[in-house]
Amino acid sequence: MMMATQNLMDEHEGIKLMLAIMESISKKMKSGRNVESVHLESILEFLKVFVDKCHHGKEEDVLFPEMLEGKQGESVRKAVRILKTEHSAGRKYVRKIAETLSGYKKGYEKSIEITENMISYVFHMRKHIEIENNFFFPISDLMLNGNTQKKLFVKFEKIEIEKIGEGRHEEFHRLLRTLKKIYL
Ligand SMILES: [Fe+2]
Ligand SMILES: [Fe+2]
Repeated sequence: MMMATQNLMDEHEGIKLMLAIMESISKKMKSGRNVESVHLESILEFLKVFVDKCHHGKEEDVLFPEMLEGKQGESVRKAVRILKTEHSAGRKYVRKIAETLSGYKKGYEKSIEITENMISYVFHMRKHIEIENNFFFPISDLMLNGNTQKKLFVKFEKIEIEKIGEGRHEEFHRLLRTLKKIYL
């Protein structure tokens, strides 16, 4: 049975791949190349569903509350507050990307607006993932025993089925492979 934090780190790898794709797309758009809006549309869907609903859902609804159980030191509480604030900042970037994308498709928004929002999101999320991988998850591994990790993982599986649906996960991985071939 998989450890809950390992599952989140695996998802981080998928997210990091999408961030690299977004960075490459932004560079192409900046140099004047047209990027198919259907690709941008599918990236937006990935950010909303895979990253926010599923991944951030697992962290905010399952891991963070578990880490706040019992009498935790102030440093853990502070870390959870910071990570949650970063999640909402990420959501703001995604909303901006969505707004500029709908303008782009109608032809009145310049691609520069989208690329700027995408790049801001990429840097924001890279930093966020680093903090979780190198600081928060190692602390979680120290604080949560094997049984608790297993219990959390079962809850993660529920979230996956409820929030993104069976089969949808594989669809997102296919999308990653397709966009990687085109843009990386
Ligand atoms: Fe997070
Ligand atoms: Fe995360």
